[in-house]
Amino acid sequence: MDSILVSGNGPLHGRIPIAGAKNACLTLMPATLLSDEPLTLTNAPRLSDIRTMTDLLASLGAEVQSLQDGKVLAMSSHDLNNHTAHYDIVRKMRASILVLGPMLARHGRAVVSLPGGCAIGARPVDLHLRALEALGAVMDLKDGYVHATAPGGLRGGAVDFPFVSVGATENALMAATLARGTTVLKNAAREPEIVDLARCLRRMGAQIEGEGTNVITVQGVERLAGATHPVVSDRIELGTYMLAPAICGGEVELLGGRKDLVGAFCDKLDEAGIDVSETPDGLKVARRGDRVRAVNVHTEPFPGFPTDLQAQMMALLCTAQGVSVLEERIFENRFMHAPELMRMGAQIEVHGGTATVTGVDRLKGAPVMATDLRASVSLILAGLAAEGETVVSRVYHLDRGYEHVVRKLRGVGARIERIRAR
Ligand code: EPZ
Repeated sequence: MDSILVSGNGPLHGRIPIAGAKNACLTLMPATLLSDEPLTLTNAPRLSDIRTMTDLLASLGAEVQSLQDGKVLAMSSHDLNNHTAHYDIVRKMRASILVLGPMLARHGRAVVSLPGGCAIGARPVDLHLRALEALGAVMDLKDGYVHATAPGGLRGGAVDFPFVSVGATENALMAATLARGTTVLKNAAREPEIVDLARCLRRMGAQIEGEGTNVITVQGVERLAGATHPVVSDRIELGTYMLAPAICGGEVELLGGRKDLVGAFCDKLDEAGIDVSETPDGLKVARRGDRVRAVNVHTEPFPGFPTDLQAQMMALLCTAQGVSVLEERIFENRFMHAPELMRMGAQIEVHGGTATVTGVDRLKGAPVMATDLRASVSLILAGLAAEGETVVSRVYHLDRGYEHVVRKLRGVGARIERIRAR
């Protein structure tokens, strides 16, 4: 397994291009199953998760062509010949569950392996199943698979989510586009990736209102056409790289960054003493003074502070002046980066869903291990600010969600390289 070697850095200067959003692309790709006409995505990120979703769609008989070095995905599910999403693919990536709604809506049946848990939590899919049942689906759990049928097709219905779920909102939204009648999704997720999915579905002929609010209304249609859709910019990659000049000093411009995608995050950065300004090409970030101030953070569904930026923010706060309290309210086990940061000299106390971080003057480089996607990049950020060298192992986690990390950070002066496993 490869690892990343990063050396403590001085201030960073330059520009980092932000790619298309992994979590938008992973729900836009299954949307091809809703139509027998081609769906083409542009501005797609080049990531291992995208390749996994490509393999999953291909296993169902869909065609996915990766063009222009992976930035364009030309898809067609005209010849779907299999309705089973197998465990060996689903266990690698939980987003595989997002083929369930579209397959049910278009073909009236689907067999999808339950995803199983992952490092950050049990992550059940009960809200996905309940929502689809409200649209007339019949769910039967056998041998670790969901056997779903929609005798007579899906029909519009009322779905009232007990709490916000991004994936369940996406599955229900896609299924509702072809359900007979009107569907109302209440307590729907408001993430920009949901808005992007709604915009793509509308391009395909779906009738959707309210995306981005907590009530989404869908009028089902007979069929959906093909379309071409640009994947929205990745707000988590954006937030991650905004923290590079925050933790190292200097000034970096994030090309394609949009403040509306990271509102609550920018507010926290401002509170910590980081300036974020809009430029014609994106966002420019610079640290005021030579050390950030401690701030308290709690994660929430959008538009609150994103759970996917919690690990990265913790790395910054390990070097802040003062004591910060971070509360993780979305996942039950998302502090696995804390023990690795402590190997670098960070002072962190974790009690349940709360981490108390006492800032230190300087972290010390050390060999550390990535435990999940966002934790891996949190350790790289810490390594950029640490004294000496840090080696981050198990970087396959990183490849799931960040394209060309070494190239992008080198481009702003970071001393970082990838060490190929022998
Ligand atoms: C999406 O996961 C993202 N993944 C996650 O990003 C992100 O952290 C999460 O939303 C929250 O923003 C993709 O979009 C591919 P949820 P998802 O359903 O849809 C519980 C990353 O790093 N829950 O909003 O799975 C669940 O366990 C990844 O890119 C149920 O209990 O998240 C969690 O505690 C990590 N039952 C909470 O709800 C369900 O049926 C929110 O999960 C569904 C979810």
